[in-house]
Amino acid sequence: MTQRVLTGITTTGTPHLGNYVGAIRPAIAASREPGVESFFFLADYHALIKCDDPARIARSRLEIAATWLAAGLDTDRVTFYAQSDIPEITELNWLLTCVTAKGQMNRAHAYKASVDANTAKGEDPDAGVTMGLYCYPVLMAADILMFNAHRVPVGRDQVQHIEMARDVALRFNHLYGAGQDLFVLPEAEIEEAVATLPGLDGRKMSKSYDNTVPLFEGGPKALKEAIARIVTDSKLPGEPKDPEGAHLVTIYDAFATADQRAAFRADLRAGLAWGEAKQRLVDLIEAHVGPMRARYADLVAHPEQIEAVLQAGAHKARARATPFLKELRHAVGLRRMVASAAVQAEASAATKPAVPVFKQYREADGQFYFKLTTASGHLLLQSAAFAEGREAGNWVKRFKAEGAAALAGAPVSLGEGVSQADAEVALNALMASLQDA
Ligand code: TRP
Repeated sequence: MTQRVLTGITTTGTPHLGNYVGAIRPAIAASREPGVESFFFLADYHALIKCDDPARIARSRLEIAATWLAAGLDTDRVTFYAQSDIPEITELNWLLTCVTAKGQMNRAHAYKASVDANTAKGEDPDAGVTMGLYCYPVLMAADILMFNAHRVPVGRDQVQHIEMARDVALRFNHLYGAGQDLFVLPEAEIEEAVATLPGLDGRKMSKSYDNTVPLFEGGPKALKEAIARIVTDSKLPGEPKDPEGAHLVTIYDAFATADQRAAFRADLRAGLAWGEAKQRLVDLIEAHVGPMRARYADLVAHPEQIEAVLQAGAHKARARATPFLKELRHAVGLRRMVASAAVQAEASAATKPAVPVFKQYREADGQFYFKLTTASGHLLLQSAAFAEGREAGNWVKRFKAEGAAALAGAPVSLGEGVSQADAEVALNALMASLQDA
């Protein structure tokens, strides 16, 4: 079964080398695995909780989107969007807010840390705490549950939020699922294997420690200047150096092949000067980052291209979110009011757009096929050939039950001039119409 993997990136800063090695690069690599469907998004509603400077929010949205695209994110494979382009998320946020225990939010680490800091200063415990901060975990649950993600790659500090999302999902399923699970229970995924990149001083690379290496900002010059500030021991050129435990080497490793790692260590043991080692590190990183930086600069110079990518992503995301939210609204009792079955039938006939149709057939070659067309006969999806009619039938059944979720890996091709998003919208509309019936 396809595993849905989802993660959000809060748009408050500019990505540095540590973000690239620890989050962006592994997420992009994971999105290329077979059987995985990835959702990556700009958590720009979350950014508003932390930052009330509109210019900074706008700049960070642009820089983070450009960084992910420049780093090689394949937006045909991955659904990449801005949270604020999906109104269904805020709507779901409310449905979830209504089943979330206040006491549980009282225990959220981020909120508790603010309360503790206020108390220590002798201030009102809730001084400076907005409802946004207090309800942060509910919005995060809405992000995750909207797409029924199975796995959520996050840092350790976010694990509690994923547990809260599970609790909210469980409660919602229990109250409104009528014996069925409306929501998948998500699991946090902590990438133990992904090294946390050390910063210039050897502590975790983080903006709050002021020890970061810029990823693109400032060009090769800024990269060189930052690397020059990496703290090393004071061994002189020619003196043997111990590569193990030197964070300069750890940073080198994050970009090096096995052969390069071995050679670098051997040279340090043989007395390579730290200055020269730093130059090699600059060259290695520049070889990786240089081409990406050029793409980044090009994207930032054409923000309308980034916007178009995000809009296409939002379109894809909403093809899922819209029918699902409709189902959730129905589940909680927000339903169209109707007087009788006859009126209901009439009302739905009047308002429903024509629904696409599946056709199964056999060709002269003796093989079995199916296709999906619009109500007026325009080809949306064409299946491959099947030896058994039953196989074609099983796929049709799956599409009807799962909608666009069944597309990943399905033996179908798109009709001429039909985009993946068109097919997704059609499949989900068909699924929703069958569920309403
Ligand atoms: N809170 C996350 C962070 O600060 C960002 C985020 C928002 C997120 N919504 C999410 C992460 C949903 C994973 C899933 O890192």
